Amino acid sequence: MLEDSIERVIVYRDTIKARVKELADEISMDYRDKDLLLICVLKGGVVFLSDLMREIDMTVDVDFMLVSSYGSGTKSSGKVKILKDLDESIEGRHVLIVEDLIDTGLTLKHLKDLLFTRDPASVSVCTIFDKPARRLVDMELEYVGIEIPDEFVVGYGLDYAGKYRNLKDLCTLKPGFYTQKP
Ligand code: IMP
Ligand code: MG
Repeated sequence: MLEDSIERVIVYRDTIKARVKELADEISMDYRDKDLLLICVLKGGVVFLSDLMREIDMTVDVDFMLVSSYGSGTKSSGKVKILKDLDESIEGRHVLIVEDLIDTGLTLKHLKDLLFTRDPASVSVCTIFDKPARRLVDMELEYVGIEIPDEFVVGYGLDYAGKYRNLKDLCTLKPGFYTQKP
């Protein structure tokens, strides 16, 4: 069973759900009367996006970007690659980047710099999890869900070697499960 690989739950699903609702309420208030485009950072952001957008009480557009920063291990390579770009133009639009987790901040910094070159009306960030202890670049985060300790976590969209994204709680894995299998 999937649950057998869990060492510890860091954030329970009910806590996540309640915080998602609060963030969505804030966003609905802040962007009322505006044309809002949610940009989901794949793949980790997809679980959060799907919960968040359904709690937002206004019309929104959604687009996706696939960004790779980690390879398949647990340490940042410091390199960021755009593997899939947006389908839509963001010129003159209010953009909200939807992220699973801000760790070093390198991925987000790169992404924000890129989006700003396309002349959007605004670019803000909404992340469900934040590991502030690991930050390497200073950056403003408009919407932060839950701060977590400096541990490698999986679940609620976050993966280890591509797996465990479908865990409902944010968890750490038992040490024996952090091994790459071919
Ligand atoms: P950053 O560039 O270091 O801020 O991290 C970028 C991305 O790496 C995050 O959005 C996650 O997708 C992934 N990441 C960072 N820390 C973890 C973790 O503890 N578990 C799983 N993925 C992580
Ligand atoms: Mg991510």
